[in-house]
Amino acid sequence: MLYDNHGRLINYVRLAVTDRCNLRCFYCMPEEGIKFSPRLELLSYEEMERIIRVLADLGVDKVRITGGEPFVRRDLMPFIGKIAALEGIKKIALTTNGVLTAPHVKHFKDLKINSVNLSLDSLDPIRFFEVTRRDEFPAVMKTLDELLLHGIDVKINSVVMQGQNEQDLLALVEMTRQLPVSVRFIEEMPFNGSGQHYKEWVWDYRRIIAHIREQYPTLHKIPDPPHSTSSNYAIEGHLGTVGVIAAYSRTFCGTCNRIRLTPQGLLKTCLYDSGIFNVRDILRAGATDAELAALFQDAIGHRFKDGYEAEANRFMNGPVTESMATIGG
Ligand code: GTP
Ligand code: 5AD
Ligand code: SF4
Repeated sequence: MLYDNHGRLINYVRLAVTDRCNLRCFYCMPEEGIKFSPRLELLSYEEMERIIRVLADLGVDKVRITGGEPFVRRDLMPFIGKIAALEGIKKIALTTNGVLTAPHVKHFKDLKINSVNLSLDSLDPIRFFEVTRRDEFPAVMKTLDELLLHGIDVKINSVVMQGQNEQDLLALVEMTRQLPVSVRFIEEMPFNGSGQHYKEWVWDYRRIIAHIREQYPTLHKIPDPPHSTSSNYAIEGHLGTVGVIAAYSRTFCGTCNRIRLTPQGLLKTCLYDSGIFNVRDILRAGATDAELAALFQDAIGHRFKDGYEAEANRFMNGPVTESMATIGG
């Protein structure tokens, strides 16, 4: 088992399989995209499988496939099949924008994918277009239908942005009346390539909850699953639930059980750090599994206490400026 220097069990890895994306959500990347990495700089599927096997031997049992948009990378499903077959891997989760996802949903349960986090910032096709700069709203809704049809747990991720989709908050909450989904509102982080918030940052988690409660007075706190990023709430008579993710306020660092691998193989032990070492380079230099395991153990034994400490210790100095697509969310 992997315990960090603050006594937290690390059993969850977030694997960003690509930095590419078929949307251009403005809170994530500029219109023209970012400088995407050439293929050779990315971890290959074989390298990723080996890394996950080494981590599984150390006690990691949950893998989240993320990106960029994971389905933009070719042959994603056979790769997930290989990860699902690794000894020790109990749960595979997926974070997707839903554009290319629908045709694959029927195979998810066979691959240990029982839960999917779908990014959806607006239920209005025009505002969806304004946020994502692409006309893909129907494809995303089709994915949502398929997920529900196949009994997959669905969490909707919605980033709240001043002057952009505030109007959508209550419509998204209303969706939980009839649908058994968890709608989670995320504090915007300035991880869009510019290092700046889109506008003045005003929608912190407290304000989001207060706003929802004005319209839904029966909104009440429910217990959160262990290590949850979201603080969760129910509304009387609603099938689904509502959550808020204080990603920028960083209120959940104390129970953080996760590490990250970027598409280029950088190990991050915190979303806000600038990378601990590059696993790709170490593999390509011929490291053995045992050497790799020792490096992971060492990195996890020196984790920052929280996202504030990680941010203050970035060796590149200054705040995070990367796009979320290169960090892997
Ligand atoms: P589960 O708890 O497994 O459902 O997933 P999740 O909420 O961690 O994953 P998801 O990919 O849906 O991320 C939702 C939001 O939470 C994104 O904006 C993430 O960047 C943010 N988030 C995820 N992990 C962390 C973290 O370790 N720290 C911070 N500050 N934000 C995080
Ligand atoms: N701030 C907060 N969340 C973000 N995401 C992408 N960029 C940002 C940002 N700047 C979210 C997406 C996706 C998840 C992995 O990260 O909405 O659901
Ligand atoms: Fe693509 Fe996700 Fe970034 Fe949107 S947030 S541009 S869907 S990687």
